[in-house]
Amino acid sequence: MIPNKQVQEILDAVRIEDVVEEFVSLRRRGVNLIGLCPFHNEKTPSFNVNPTRNIFKCFGCGKGGDAVTFLREHENLGYAEALHWLARKYNIEIEEIERSPEQLAEQQLAESLYIVNDFGLQHFQEQLFNTDEGKSVALAYFKQRGLREETIRTFGLGYAPEQRDLLLRRAKATGHNTDLLKKVGLCSQDGGRDFFRGRVMFAIHNLSGKIAAFAGRTMSSDKTIPKYINSPETEIYVKNKTLYGAFQAKKAIRQRDECLLVEGYMDVISLHQAGIENVVASSGTSLTEGQLQLIKRNTGNLKIVYDGDPAGVKAALRGLDLALEQDMNVKICLLPDGHDPDSYVQEFGGEGFTAFTEANSRDFILFKTQLLLNDAQGDPMKRAALVKDIIGSIAKIPDPIKRSVYLKECSALLDVEEQTLHSETNKLITGTIRKQQEKAARRPEAASDSPEMAPDPNFPVAEPEFTARAQEKPMLRGDEFQERDIVRMLVQFGDRMLKEEQVSVAEYILADIEESLGNFDNPVYGKIASECHTLLVEGKVVDQHFFMQHDTQAIRDLAIDLLSAPWELSPNWEERWNYPLQNQKMPELNFDIDMKQALDRFKLRKIQKMCELNLLRIKTSAESGDDDAMMRFMKIQQKLNETRNEIAKRAGTVVLVK
Ligand code: UTP
Ligand code: MN
Repeated sequence: MIPNKQVQEILDAVRIEDVVEEFVSLRRRGVNLIGLCPFHNEKTPSFNVNPTRNIFKCFGCGKGGDAVTFLREHENLGYAEALHWLARKYNIEIEEIERSPEQLAEQQLAESLYIVNDFGLQHFQEQLFNTDEGKSVALAYFKQRGLREETIRTFGLGYAPEQRDLLLRRAKATGHNTDLLKKVGLCSQDGGRDFFRGRVMFAIHNLSGKIAAFAGRTMSSDKTIPKYINSPETEIYVKNKTLYGAFQAKKAIRQRDECLLVEGYMDVISLHQAGIENVVASSGTSLTEGQLQLIKRNTGNLKIVYDGDPAGVKAALRGLDLALEQDMNVKICLLPDGHDPDSYVQEFGGEGFTAFTEANSRDFILFKTQLLLNDAQGDPMKRAALVKDIIGSIAKIPDPIKRSVYLKECSALLDVEEQTLHSETNKLITGTIRKQQEKAARRPEAASDSPEMAPDPNFPVAEPEFTARAQEKPMLRGDEFQERDIVRMLVQFGDRMLKEEQVSVAEYILADIEESLGNFDNPVYGKIASECHTLLVEGKVVDQHFFMQHDTQAIRDLAIDLLSAPWELSPNWEERWNYPLQNQKMPELNFDIDMKQALDRFKLRKIQKMCELNLLRIKTSAESGDDDAMMRFMKIQQKLNETRNEIAKRAGTVVLVK
């Protein structure tokens, strides 16, 4: 663990442009730097780096954040790893807080497992390239399957000869521990013989390129022995979080903004060799959530390329609702009978493969609909189940526009009225929301982490109270404009000092709105204000880092949105805020005025609410003939009006008296 003080020291030293420039060439444009976005494929630069704010933002693909986020996304580093990277770059020596003995032991074990696997890889490669048996059996096999030597090395392919305990003997001779060999599954559990024998070997890398496990394919055509055998799960090999080829593919996946998913090891390798590098394999099982998350970190577009046989199709369908839930676009492409991706690309080349998949990819939901429809022909029970199934998938999609499009198309395919599909879908969504709310009520801190869903407003169901998704350009209602502006000030200038008052912007704002903390219309904005308040009470600072590395995705997204706002001032800004653009141009220089005006607008809204509430009280007490109460409320009203007018005058806003 890195001590907090040093985290701060590192963050203070970081210049976003230095970090990004290690990976992207940038040129100056005005106060910003621009370049070609490393997260998606583009020809004209829309990737912006803002040195003043110390952030980056791509206006093409929407990715943005601080230097830590950049490293996490670009280099696939964890949070601590990113900080270490920065510390090295800026020559800051980290004095780690002592790890617990368990953590230390865990890390040491992982390291020794990697060492044994490295030994395994060297052994298998040596057998492949430098022995007669390896060359004549295995290398010849790989070559016959069309692999070049460069590819064989990139993927860590090798050979385990027939001999009973060759690896074991060599391992012992070089001082490796038998228990570790057993643990990673390189030898039998009794320690008497090698586990992989007479097989060509495939190294399975983790995301940073270390060897996590092996798979071995038999050389024999005997159908009674398993075609592939694998290393067992260990601390360094968790199957449902591993995707074969992900290490070799991650860069291409980001660049092409698409990930191809195939079934087999050979499929990945052959496609990669043919220049189609954005490909990973699920290794014959259906996708797990952990695997999807690996993909989602790099792209939102998934294309599944499977054999056309029924087993392939079924495998493709499983687990895919998970991808929809993650708001991924899923396409599916079935290859002609008898082909798998490997055989297709070996026969028709990379261009032939790409041409085929582009012409024959279908949207996953429409594909599924068609497929089930064929299955259900003339069977009304099956048809009803099918409609349910499809709607179940569609209801998982977070984006209402996308859902709408699907419902329209499926309505045509299924020959069911669109309106019916819509209301059925909305019923499911409402059910899901209710469940989420119940869950949130039990576990409040995690509430806003799950993607929020909202039914299509054009097809209302009974309870229409739903919050807008924070990631999208928000549809703000009630006081949300003013609340957002308060949050904007906290994000942009929270740690700046106000010269006159000698407190930070965050301290000033939160002291001023303390009593409204529970009255936010927008739960995300309210959560931010309350958390900042807590930080200050604990004597901590509210700075960009707090928002950029927040556990809640919605808050991270909002922060980057707000920080990049001056680059994309909306044309109706003045109208929206009812407020002249006088100090939007250089907010850095003018933040104290900006902040006080934002505060005024916020307080004005909240006080207007109080006025309305109080008017209602006057009305009810008048109706019930309670003159005392009425007088009391009228006095309050007078005070409220005065305060309101005073703020309004300062803010230059015309108050509409209702
Ligand atoms: P396939 O049987 O389609 O093999 O299994 P393949 O990848 O095309 O291999 P070649 O072309 O015959 O050499 C697809 C994937 O399913 C997993 C492997 O990941 C394999 O690549 N599998 C298959 C196993 O794990 N064990 C098996 O016994 C068979
Ligand atoms: Mn194959």
